[in-house]
Amino acid sequence: MANLWGGRFTEATDASAYRFNQSISFDRKMYAEDISGSVAHAEMLGRQGIISKADKEKIVSGLKEIKDDIDAGRLIISDDAEDIHSFIESVLTDRIGDAGKKLHTGRSRNDQVALDIKLYTRSRISETDRLIDDLQRVLLTIMEANTATYMPGFTHLQKAQPVTLAHHIGAYFEMFIRDRQRLADIYERMNTCPLGAGALAGTTYDLDREYTASLLGFEGGPTRNSMDSVSDRDHIIEFMSALSIIMMHLSRFSEEIILWNSNEYRFVEIDDRYSTGSSIMPQKKNPDIAELVRGKTGRVYGALMSILTTMKGIPLAYNKDMQEDKEMAFDAMDTVKDCLREFTGMMSTISFRNEVMEESARKGFTNATDAADYLVKKGVAFRDAHSIVGRLVLKCVAEDKALDDLSLTDFKAESEVFEEDIYGAISMKTCVEKRLTKGAPGEERMLEAIRYYRVYLEDMSK
Ligand code: ARG
Repeated sequence: MANLWGGRFTEATDASAYRFNQSISFDRKMYAEDISGSVAHAEMLGRQGIISKADKEKIVSGLKEIKDDIDAGRLIISDDAEDIHSFIESVLTDRIGDAGKKLHTGRSRNDQVALDIKLYTRSRISETDRLIDDLQRVLLTIMEANTATYMPGFTHLQKAQPVTLAHHIGAYFEMFIRDRQRLADIYERMNTCPLGAGALAGTTYDLDREYTASLLGFEGGPTRNSMDSVSDRDHIIEFMSALSIIMMHLSRFSEEIILWNSNEYRFVEIDDRYSTGSSIMPQKKNPDIAELVRGKTGRVYGALMSILTTMKGIPLAYNKDMQEDKEMAFDAMDTVKDCLREFTGMMSTISFRNEVMEESARKGFTNATDAADYLVKKGVAFRDAHSIVGRLVLKCVAEDKALDDLSLTDFKAESEVFEEDIYGAISMKTCVEKRLTKGAPGEERMLEAIRYYRVYLEDMSK
């Protein structure tokens, strides 16, 4: 396939240098964006009288046919072209003749690629947001069913105080709210159109940049500085950063699911559809999906490091280094999409062992703070209450008991203040119910939070 820049050259590019230079092997992913950008550019050229109406119509219908043919598999993107921009332009010219050669009037591949990658990133941001929405809906269903499912809350991975499954899952729901806010911020900030910036210094044609921006749905209008327009890849960096944070959240969540699914915890059972077996150990059921999500976090962080490093020393304006903005970023976008989809599937089929969780909280002395508070409410100083309960815990450890397995005589041996009502005061239910500060796991508070999350999801889908 002919180069776009043959005129000045007397010798063809060295074959291996050509391969090194090409981007068609990965920028083919942007064919739909490249075509919409070109359609908008041609519409504008026709409207401004820079090309004739007839040429404009040929170009636009030619481009639409190319798009349909690629979609339907009738036109295969060939590896002979240098990049997706040259591929589409040369197919267009082959198909419609000389009119095709006018498409690039007042445009450079520099503003063209800046536009394509922005359109691509923008639609992947929306797609990621929708996938998080799916996950949040699954999480909310779990929360609604588990406002009275008691479990140990941990600090230092040591059982600390009782919480509920709804509360624990709610913590992740909050993380995903922030992730979606970040995506929305990026979307808004990047929503300006670089088309018309030319190679770096605009053009001498009377382009209507407002018009192309509005055709392409850039609510922020055209970009303000042509040099920045062709050399700005901030939106990819920001998106990679948001994706890295999403992966960090998914990875922490996966880690908990892996722990909870282990024989030591037995809090959950991952469904067979989301588990795998061992080739040698017949008893094994492995949480591979969760482990892979945790593992894939590394490559998404890698994509962030890669683009940050690529961009760090580049003088204005466009430089070929910037072609390196795509491969790892595309990989990261696909990876996060897969992870979100699989994680959501896993969470929508997982089963929770509620009794195991509650028993783990009871046996893990998560009610020790409440036992001390009981004494404080009956007039004992907190420091004294703390050490009384500490001694009771020591006794329980020695006898392999939970606090509420002790007899009233046992309690009284440490403090005469204990009465029969100690049992009610330190039941898991009471311990959680009494936690009614805003944001705490007490059922009333949790139901309030759930109502908020329902409204939030409705608002987000408007
Ligand atoms: N393949 C290039 C990229 O991805 C397209 C822009 C080429 N521009 C140029 N002046 N060589 O960045």
